[in-house]
Amino acid sequence: MSSIGSRVLSVRHYQPSRVLTNEDLTKIVDTNDEWIQSRVGIRERRIADSETVADMATYAARKALAASGLDTSDIDLVVVATCTMVDRVPNTACRVAEQLNIDAPAAFDINTACSGFSHAMATADHAIKARAAKNAIVIGVEKLTDFTDWTDRSTCILFGDGAGAAVITACDEEESGVGPVVWGSVPSMSDVVRIESNHPYVAQEGQTVFRWAITSLAPMARQAAEAAGVKPDEVKAFVPHQANLRIIEGISKKLGMPNAHIATDIVESGNTSAASVPLALSKLVEGGEVSSGDPILLFGFGGGLTYAGQIIRCP
Ligand code: UT7
Repeated sequence: MSSIGSRVLSVRHYQPSRVLTNEDLTKIVDTNDEWIQSRVGIRERRIADSETVADMATYAARKALAASGLDTSDIDLVVVATCTMVDRVPNTACRVAEQLNIDAPAAFDINTACSGFSHAMATADHAIKARAAKNAIVIGVEKLTDFTDWTDRSTCILFGDGAGAAVITACDEEESGVGPVVWGSVPSMSDVVRIESNHPYVAQEGQTVFRWAITSLAPMARQAAEAAGVKPDEVKAFVPHQANLRIIEGISKKLGMPNAHIATDIVESGNTSAASVPLALSKLVEGGEVSSGDPILLFGFGGGLTYAGQIIRCP
């Protein structure tokens, strides 16, 4: 039996319509537009009203499926990355399958906080390579504003809600469009980003995470490109987790990928945790910043601490 790989057929996103600007936040906490833009790079973010995590995941997945050329009957795996699902059971993936009328897919959630989408993409890729699935929907979704302390200016200015989804399919190994994953965690730093039952709001040691991200991530992201056999100057776009514009710029400088367009969706969307990479990726594709077949480097990092990234070929 010949070896198989997987490739991305489509990427789409969903964001709630309600916009929360920095100016709006000045009416809630002691902050200002200058501080937020200069320290974090955010101008505005989207806030869900009635939409649940499962709703946003479904809306993004429906768009991705429509763009993929596949039908619901083709899908045999749904993987959702999220850390903000309120219900414990059923998981978000089962809810998405229910709302999209997908019959009997394997359906499960992954929680690695902000690095979730690359973990979910790798898991789906591995399932396809193991012939446990043929066509998968991979989703990153968060409703972080359910877990935001609106009296804490150090965190409430950061977060937004949304979802991004990709459809991936089995293909010959030579046509593979999902590269090997580079993933891991830093258990000794497990307490630096938290949403805990005795304090169900995002809390973080911002500067500790900032320093770790700036110093540790660029070599790992380079390793993901190398593992896929893509040279640094061949990478056409870099889509890192959107936590802070200064982190994005700091990592990008160290990457040495001179031809890569750098995704900076944080400006318009804030930090949407597991949704940030697929959201930013979908907007690059939608805006024509990347073309079909272009190698794009994804790299997520966040609570755990966890990290994961891989090269994908633009659909
Ligand atoms: O996505 C999961 C992974 N998380 C991350 O990657 C986050 C990484 N960290 C960061 O992005 C940054 O550390 C933050 C954006 C979270 C914070 O920026 P910072 O430059 O590290 O600020 P800071 O927390 O050190 O605060 C500096 C000052 C403090 O005032 P004093 O003590 O110097 O007088 C804060 O009280 O800024 C003050 N401050 C604010 N001022 C106006 C904190 N938040 C605000 C605010 N508006 N919203």
